[in-house]
Amino acid sequence: MLTLMQPNPSDASTPQTQDDRDLLHYEGRLARPVKAKLPELERGDRLRHVIFSGQFTVELLEELGGVADAIRQLSKHRSGQDFLINLLHHKRAMLYFTQPSTRTFLSFMAACQILGITCNEVRDPQTSSETKGETRFDSIRMFSSYFDLIVMRSPIARLAESCAYLMNDLERSGNRSVPIVNAGSGADQHPTQALLDIYTLQRTFSFSGPNDSSISSRFDDLRKQPGCEHLTKGLANKTYAFCGDIGRGRTVRSLALLLANYANVRLVFIAPPHPTLVMRDDLRDRLAARDVEVYEFDSLEQELDGKPVVEQVDALYMTRVQREHDTSDDADQYATIDFSQYCLTPEIVTRMKSYAPILHPFPRDQHFGEIPQEIDNDPRAMYFRQARNGMWVRAALLAHIFDVDGHIMRYFHQELG
Ligand code: CP
Repeated sequence: MLTLMQPNPSDASTPQTQDDRDLLHYEGRLARPVKAKLPELERGDRLRHVIFSGQFTVELLEELGGVADAIRQLSKHRSGQDFLINLLHHKRAMLYFTQPSTRTFLSFMAACQILGITCNEVRDPQTSSETKGETRFDSIRMFSSYFDLIVMRSPIARLAESCAYLMNDLERSGNRSVPIVNAGSGADQHPTQALLDIYTLQRTFSFSGPNDSSISSRFDDLRKQPGCEHLTKGLANKTYAFCGDIGRGRTVRSLALLLANYANVRLVFIAPPHPTLVMRDDLRDRLAARDVEVYEFDSLEQELDGKPVVEQVDALYMTRVQREHDTSDDADQYATIDFSQYCLTPEIVTRMKSYAPILHPFPRDQHFGEIPQEIDNDPRAMYFRQARNGMWVRAALLAHIFDVDGHIMRYFHQELG
């Protein structure tokens, strides 16, 4: 079984497989701070490999949101669909997903189809020659021989990052090399989930949905409500709460770090009082280093500014408790925790701000019940639209990687602008 380990040459457990030695080869590069890594994941003014949410600047997020909106509008018309599908029909993508996925896999596939990219997939390594001893890095290099893009999800933290370095090394030695997109790597990062979360928040906080008109805008009406006088458009000046499994939530981690880029945001982390589930030190330290106002609570009812936090938040990001990663010690300690504190009810939702979206990366857990189905028709329930947004903004990301985003925006403004 391969793990990405911290090597110790004197340790008897030092790995012996070629897979392990391959990963060790990148250890020096993997150990650098994220900032030092970013330049080699870019080419000119665009992303080459998408590995960390930290690669998305506020400007790039605005740009990708605009392209996603344009793709969405163009897709409503036959002529727009025809334009989009001809943009990248000469490209092929490999979806290499060796960890379960519904939304990320299917939305990347749909995004490829919107732009005309042909997809192929490996989801079960038992069907690949890895069962005959082939290393993962050989697999990746083979994919790069046949495809123009590799989108990968793996249980191994930092495997996608290592594959990006492999591609860069191949490029430097004059060999074929293709972009790598991280679609979820261990408990580490899920950058395109953070991208679609931000896109959903951009759309919500633009207050320009169907309820707006030039005569009476929802935003103007909202600002007349008590407590909303200081409401602004955009992601800045907001309080965001995350509730549930904060410790193991790679989507929480990726999104929190992106939200830290916006001015005057407060981040509230609401987790059961258990060492596995509360925020980890590295995220706490990274947010502290960015001077973000952070609160750690153990209940949606704990007070912020003199009121229960659930009534104060501008957006609530619910998560599933990832029981599949529990150790036997975890399960024993859970016995004393009242998990219903981390589940919404219709009554709790009615106390939230009327415009505050409820997000969830999904899947939600029907047994745990963090978001019961009774809430699905509440206007604040954003999670299904959030998942659909993933398709549009992943299409925008692919357009960016293959440098056709400018073409899309020109066509959009010419036809529909
Ligand atoms: N949100 C998310 O990553 O969903 P999947 O695991 O279904 O891809």
